[in-house]
Amino acid sequence: MSHISVLLHETVDALLANRDTGIYIDGTFGRGGHTRLLLSKLGPDAQVYGFDKDPQALAVAHQLEQEDSRFHIIHASFADIQTELNQRGIEHVDGIMADLGVSSPQLDQAERGFSFMQDGPLDMRMDNSQGQTAAEWLLHIEEEALANIIYQYGEERYSRRIARAIKQAGLLETTAQLAELVKAAHPKWEKHKHPATRTFQAIRIAINKELEDIEQFLPQAVDLLKPEARLAVISFHSLEDRLIKQFIQKESTIAEDSGWGMPQQQIDTRRLKKISRIRASEEEVKANPRSRSAWLRVAERLV
Ligand SMILES: C[S@@+](CC[C@H](N)C(=O)[O-])C[C@H]1O[C@@H](n2cnc3c(N)ncnc32)[C@H](O)[C@@H]1O
Repeated sequence: MSHISVLLHETVDALLANRDTGIYIDGTFGRGGHTRLLLSKLGPDAQVYGFDKDPQALAVAHQLEQEDSRFHIIHASFADIQTELNQRGIEHVDGIMADLGVSSPQLDQAERGFSFMQDGPLDMRMDNSQGQTAAEWLLHIEEEALANIIYQYGEERYSRRIARAIKQAGLLETTAQLAELVKAAHPKWEKHKHPATRTFQAIRIAINKELEDIEQFLPQAVDLLKPEARLAVISFHSLEDRLIKQFIQKESTIAEDSGWGMPQQQIDTRRLKKISRIRASEEEVKANPRSRSAWLRVAERLV
């Protein structure tokens, strides 16, 4: 039930850029792999704040708080990063990282309900202490809205048929029930992919508000960074990566403002400089296939 951290050294080294003190944020603590490496490279006066939505991640983080007084955990979404840090008297930080998506323990524990490979209650909440389970959510959503979500977040061509089948079925209590239903409704199975893969991804993204959280997080992260401080974000699928790429692109490009009949003016609103875009090495992909789809993007705050 452990989690192998992806792009571990690459992320921490890029975040620190040879610094060894300051205030750093891990937006997705998980099992603390990135946080622990970060702490090992920081001096005694540094501080690290971790965020996670998941009560199980919190339990691990509380242990680390006991072991290392430089570390503090916050049970909240990184979408609320600014408010949470401001409440603790922090206005600016020296670096922020996030390793998006679900952790291996979330996927591997049948009772968390993320997996179509193992049967469990149809839950899929990262924060299973609050909010609607996937089963409740599916029962209440309209067919058309569900089809749109499966299409957009799962990039599933047969979203309409699948949504119809789900809504006709009524209450689905387990992951196996949903997986079987999608399998039966899906007319064209892709090679090496369970026919429910895309539908499960879409429902998970929707109920955890994964893309909305990233959209809220990114501008706040830039507000929080001190000049020359860095943002390092690892994403695992194209929908996430597109948001990060476009955000960094916008924040690192001079905007062109063409006023009515006025000569074009260039307004320099840039707040970021692109630093790097990194993929997992062949060795890492061999050792941990989950890293195959990972992209690390790093940007630095301008003055
Ligand atoms: C891929 S894992 C992180 C693994 C971690 N870097 C490590 O090395 O152990 C992602 C974690 O982020 C958490 N998470 C995902 N979205 C979140 C959000 N919006 N706010 C806070 N935590 C989030 C998940 O609950 C999960 O524990």
